Amino acid sequence: MLAFSIIPLMSKYIIHGGKSLAGDVVINGAKNAALGIVAASIMSDEMVTIENLPDVWDINVLLDAIKEMGAIVDRVDRHTVKIVGSMCSSVVDNENMRKMRGSYYLLGALLGKYKRAQVPLPGGCNIGSRPVEQHIKGFKQLGARVEITYGGILSAEADALKGSHIFFDIVSVGATINVMLAASLSPGLTILENVAKEPHIVDVANFLNSMGANIKGAGTDVIKIRGVEKLHGSTYSIIPDQIEAGTFMVAAAATKGDVLIKNIIPKHMEAISAKLSEIGAEVIENDDSIRVVAKGRLSSAQIKTFAYPGFPTDMQPQMTTLLALSQGTSTVTENIFDNRFKYVDELARMGADIRVEGNIAIITGVEKLTGASICSPDLRAGAALVIAGMVANGYTVVEQVEYIERGYEEFEVKLKSLGATIEKVDDDVDEVLYARKMALSEVS
Ligand code: UD1
Repeated sequence: MLAFSIIPLMSKYIIHGGKSLAGDVVINGAKNAALGIVAASIMSDEMVTIENLPDVWDINVLLDAIKEMGAIVDRVDRHTVKIVGSMCSSVVDNENMRKMRGSYYLLGALLGKYKRAQVPLPGGCNIGSRPVEQHIKGFKQLGARVEITYGGILSAEADALKGSHIFFDIVSVGATINVMLAASLSPGLTILENVAKEPHIVDVANFLNSMGANIKGAGTDVIKIRGVEKLHGSTYSIIPDQIEAGTFMVAAAATKGDVLIKNIIPKHMEAISAKLSEIGAEVIENDDSIRVVAKGRLSSAQIKTFAYPGFPTDMQPQMTTLLALSQGTSTVTENIFDNRFKYVDELARMGADIRVEGNIAIITGVEKLTGASICSPDLRAGAALVIAGMVANGYTVVEQVEYIERGYEEFEVKLKSLGATIEKVDDDVDEVLYARKMALSEVS
């Protein structure tokens, strides 16, 4: 079995801006789908093989947690894992699980399988308050008693689960997946209304169906689930990561580059493709790839984040960064999370002109950004700051790249292969000396 590190070392990126990205990049499996699918895999006692698994921190921590719970986890290669959940306990006791959002999917999976579960309350990126009352409401309607016990443990238990008609008060990706997991093994018919429609919800539903579940309607507003007695083994390949793909699309546009983004589902990218075209980038769609070409400075736009198929909140920081360099005044309205503009202060230190009023960022495009030492506040904002560094004059240091590595596999390696000058170094490396070394090697 291959060993994979889940303890991130403190690192930073040193970037020399000014290069246009060019070439091909292959997108990995979707992290957010993988979180639901890995959690769902322990619902079967038989072997499940998951392909196109991204090698990112969040997924490696989840695999580590289910292994600690008793599951057999065999990482046969970097992107394939075999899981047997027959010996899994119903208690999750892994400190790292508090740091990630997807940990809560184990609650739905274990509740469905064992009718009881204990999982630490989820963490994840600090992008605003992230309550879970819709998950709890769904579990309760399936017949579970749910409580938060001492130490922030979310506990759910049921004498018997039963199908139910559940109308979510708000559209939640997490609640939709979590309740869908538990309902798959709840006798009777469950109807979920006002659900999220993100591609990874469809992917988790398809995976469950491949294990024998009976789920219809994923990807629409109403999901109907007829509970089955048990789930069997399966081999399943995860869909490509919509947000990783979108990040490279924006990086291509921001650096006035020409990049072919491969192994994607162009339909999932429509909101992003449409905005990039609207502001003047050339977006060429193929069957399973998209080419983004930008020749000059792009124009302004008005963007509002919404649940799928709207513009994804997970692309908001990257797009704001691009608009910070575009001509004219743009507005970006964040409708999903209440604290997702923290990175704007870092962009301002690089010369961006962005004013945040409530949930709206008003952006006056500038012609250039200047390199600075900045700190990645969360996963997607971290990626956005790397894009800023790649277009800025001079050197940029992005600290806390561990956030970025939660969701991007070999981000800097892929960027380098597209021509960016970016190095990942340990936190204690002297960045000024290192930047000089980089400058010398670029000259020679
Ligand atoms: C998931 C994604 C995250 C993405 C987000 C929105 C994963 C692991 N993470 O997060 O990358 O940014 O969808 O596309 O897939 N809410 C409540 N009560 C609840 C649940 C949610 O008020 O019980 C609120 C949240 O605070 C937020 C909104 O609903 O304001 C949407 O959250 P949700 O769709 O649940 O996001 P996550 O599943 O946390």
